[in-house]
Amino acid sequence: MKFSYSSVVTAAIALLPVVSAQVNSSEWNAAYAKAKSTLALLNLSDKVSLATGYCTGNIPTIPAINFTGLCLEDSALGVKDTDYSSAFPAGINVAATFNRTLMRQRGVAMGQEFRGKGVNIQLGPMMNFMRAPASGRAWEGFGGDPYLSGEGAFETITGIQSQGVQAVAKHFIDYEQEHSRMSSSSNVDDRLQHEIYLHPFLRSVQANVAAVMCSYINGTYACENNATLNGLLKYELAFQGCKLNGWFRYDDWTATPSTTSANDGLDMTMPGDIFPGSIVSWFGESLVLAVQLGTVPESRVDDMATRILAGWYLLGQEQGYPPVNFDSKDPLSSVNQHVNVQGDHASLIRTIGAASTVLLKNENNALPLNKPKTIGIIGNDAGPNPLGPNICIAKGCDIGILGMGWGSGTANYPYLITPLDAITNRSSLDGTQVYSSLDDFDLDAAADTASGKDVAFVFITADSGEGSLTVEGNAGDRNNLQAWHSGDALVEKVASVNNNTIVVVNTVGPIVVEAWIDNPNVTGLVWSGLPGEEAGNSLIDILYGAYNPSGRLPYTIGKSIDDYAAQINTSIPIGILEIPYSEGLFIDYRHFDEANITPRYEYGFGLSYTTFSYSDLIVSGSVSGAAPGPSYGFGSSLDPSLHAPVVFVNFTLTNTGNIAGHETPQLYISLPASSQSPPYILKGFDSVFINPGESREVSMELSQYDLSIWNVVTQRWEVPSGTIGVTVGASSRDHRLTGVIG
Ligand SMILES: *[C@@H]1O[C@H](CO)[C@@H](O)[C@H](O)[C@H]1NC(C)=O
Ligand SMILES: *[C@@H]1O[C@H](CO)[C@@H](O)[C@H](O)[C@H]1NC(C)=O
Ligand SMILES: *[C@@H]1O[C@H](CO)[C@@H](O)[C@H](O)[C@H]1NC(C)=O
Ligand SMILES: *[C@@H]1O[C@H](CO)[C@@H](O)[C@H](O)[C@H]1NC(C)=O
Ligand SMILES: *[C@@H]1O[C@H](CO)[C@@H](O)[C@H](O)[C@H]1NC(C)=O
Ligand SMILES: *[C@@H]1O[C@H](CO)[C@@H](O)[C@H](O)[C@H]1NC(C)=O
Ligand SMILES: *[C@@H]1O[C@H](CO)[C@@H](O)[C@H](O)[C@H]1NC(C)=O
Ligand SMILES: *[C@@H]1O[C@H](CO)[C@@H](O)[C@H](O)[C@H]1NC(C)=O
Ligand SMILES: *[C@@H]1O[C@H](CO)[C@@H](O)[C@H](O)[C@H]1NC(C)=O
Ligand SMILES: *[C@@H]1O[C@H](CO)[C@@H](O)[C@H](O)[C@H]1NC(C)=O
Ligand SMILES: *[C@@H]1O[C@H](CO)[C@@H](O)[C@H](O)[C@H]1NC(C)=O
Repeated sequence: MKFSYSSVVTAAIALLPVVSAQVNSSEWNAAYAKAKSTLALLNLSDKVSLATGYCTGNIPTIPAINFTGLCLEDSALGVKDTDYSSAFPAGINVAATFNRTLMRQRGVAMGQEFRGKGVNIQLGPMMNFMRAPASGRAWEGFGGDPYLSGEGAFETITGIQSQGVQAVAKHFIDYEQEHSRMSSSSNVDDRLQHEIYLHPFLRSVQANVAAVMCSYINGTYACENNATLNGLLKYELAFQGCKLNGWFRYDDWTATPSTTSANDGLDMTMPGDIFPGSIVSWFGESLVLAVQLGTVPESRVDDMATRILAGWYLLGQEQGYPPVNFDSKDPLSSVNQHVNVQGDHASLIRTIGAASTVLLKNENNALPLNKPKTIGIIGNDAGPNPLGPNICIAKGCDIGILGMGWGSGTANYPYLITPLDAITNRSSLDGTQVYSSLDDFDLDAAADTASGKDVAFVFITADSGEGSLTVEGNAGDRNNLQAWHSGDALVEKVASVNNNTIVVVNTVGPIVVEAWIDNPNVTGLVWSGLPGEEAGNSLIDILYGAYNPSGRLPYTIGKSIDDYAAQINTSIPIGILEIPYSEGLFIDYRHFDEANITPRYEYGFGLSYTTFSYSDLIVSGSVSGAAPGPSYGFGSSLDPSLHAPVVFVNFTLTNTGNIAGHETPQLYISLPASSQSPPYILKGFDSVFINPGESREVSMELSQYDLSIWNVVTQRWEVPSGTIGVTVGASSRDHRLTGVIG
């Protein structure tokens, strides 16, 4: 991927040396000391072997230093290609919780499972953006806003690494569509790069992430990009860990384009071979030769090996790390000891599933259910895949309840609770009769099932994933934002015969709901997203009120795909596909706000079974206008002074209804118009449990960095001069309290 920086930036970056590790963090310090002392015991082949994976994702052992090798494994939502492990809710769902505790706990639980299987490096979390709403892999990440994505990245990494597993922040950087992903150029200007796309990686480095994976691509390959790998990541963010390339298991070329990628800051190549099964690697013996010929300096190989060893030491993997006990390529292999690593994670998964469910419409108190006599359940998404939940390769099909998208970012389900099973079981407590029709296209059966029932649930979906698979004509990215399987027709049919129709949506991202959302017979809309293995149980916790809904949309649901600022570029180019990020800072709600477009449901929106009031806003502390951050240099964007809290935003929440529950308050700032920033920018959120009639004071902090924009001329963070507005509310548009800083 190549980048069109301003000339000033190009000049600044041209002055950089190839950045070697410069330790400036206490956590990394000890790891580097150990790495440097063992490095002295290695010859060139050993050092290169540390950097070269051979096909399985395993780095070989080096007995001389007691190095037991590294096993790298997908994915960002659970251990891929094994058994007796969990299928966690997708990144987009944990984002919808707006709850840091749950983000962290999910990371901890995933870390426990990767460790239990002997995996040293989990290839996640994924933090690319839902820039275009149809983006195929956006569900693996945290949605359309950098702040929420950054918090998702930070908490997930902190959780994973607390278990001694190395996390991988991916994919660095500007990888937001599947079409031509191996041969495209994302053209991103320097301010945009800093304020949006770099932010989750900055938070990842703050979480001491051990490794970063670069995106695929072509043009100037992302893995070969001096400006981003060395300039942004290793210099400006002072990243101490290991940089590895994106990799493919079966059907693609690797993303490492050449041996000299080493000179551009790449530290490790995966899977290691130039093409599947080849015995030649871009690194391996080729890298040994390059050092001997002088095209790659040995000091660079030393730096690569040091970074890789340091990550291993950072997480304490040199002592007592469990050996790999499964074979991702062959589940029947004798290597597979079928170690059950699920622990009690099912209950956390169920909780996250419920906490990430977004209630979007609830008329006539349709929900929570109150002992209905009859329930009709309509739609294939309510039931199982008759051949089992893992039957489709890389989950590349949309049959039965949709718990995750498709591609490498998936994991096997140990089991998958369907809505039909969960509702049927739960309804027995009330003596409710349940009827069902699971054929999406049999509209007569749908009408029969819905007709005369106290409540009719219609389940619809939209799926997407990695571009290596095409599912129902969608080549990774979605072709449009319509519900799949004529979902609109199914809803309309059910609503034509039942005046209490509740729509449940399992989806990778927004779908357009205009065909039926204003139909008065559609009394409810429940956004279940991609909840993982406990899908049905999480859903009944919401439907029956065991969990008071508190999930919020991590993206905007527009009335039309044309309402969004950016789209997938589906052109078939001669050569490289150009993807100009010409919407700039105005993605997702920032565009809807700027262009004054009314969405169907705005970013951050979600209903509760109770009501909350907001009061007593106090904005304290200050920051001087035009306050410049540290000047450009090693680690300048991570300088602690930039990230220390300087402004506090305090306010009071009161539960004014009759039911206990969480409110999800959000803090948006409005920078002076001269800064040409979006009208509202998310900079804080919380998830606050409050009993009926009670109040809680909430406090959110803002740092100088939070209030800054990136000055492309001075190459530093600066607070724009002028008045900065503060808005606290229940969504990006439901503004409850406003104030100013200073
Ligand atoms: C990367 O930057 C360094 C320092 O400016 C320069 O020596 C090197 O040639 C650059 N590499 C590429 C591939 O541009
Ligand atoms: C390391 O960090 C400290 C403060 O965190 C800073 O004063 C110092 O300049 C940094 N050193 C380098 C080499 O960046
Ligand atoms: C490097 O050291 C390893 C032992 O750690 C040994 O097996 C290998 O032969 C050595 N290679 C060279 C080129 O000396
Ligand atoms: C390897 O382990 C052995 C046995 O515990 C120990 O004596 C030796 O010092 C270790 N070597 C290194 C390089 O850590
Ligand atoms: C069925 O519902 C009962 C009562 O709510 C619950 O205890 C049980 O675990 C449920 N069984 C399944 C398989 O979900
Ligand atoms: C709403 O449902 C009732 C049946 O309960 C049906 O008679 C009516 O036509 C429906 N209205 C719409 C707008 O579909
Ligand atoms: C919905 O339809 C039922 C009959 O199926 C009827 O008893 C009820 O009054 C209707 N409710 C509304 C709000 O129209
Ligand atoms: C890079 O893209 C060009 C143009 O599509 C293509 O010819 C070339 O094979 C690609 N290289 C890789 C490694 O994918
Ligand atoms: C789409 O790609 C084509 C071919 O590279 C390019 O000319 C065009 O500007 C791109 N358009 C958008 C909107 O991304
Ligand atoms: C997050 O969710 C958990 C589980 O529902 C809840 O206990 C907690 O209060 C929520 N908020 C925070 C900040 O942890
Ligand atoms: C805001 O809340 C924080 C954290 O509770 C507290 O330390 C601070 O004193 C509060 N500020 C004001 C002005 O109330």
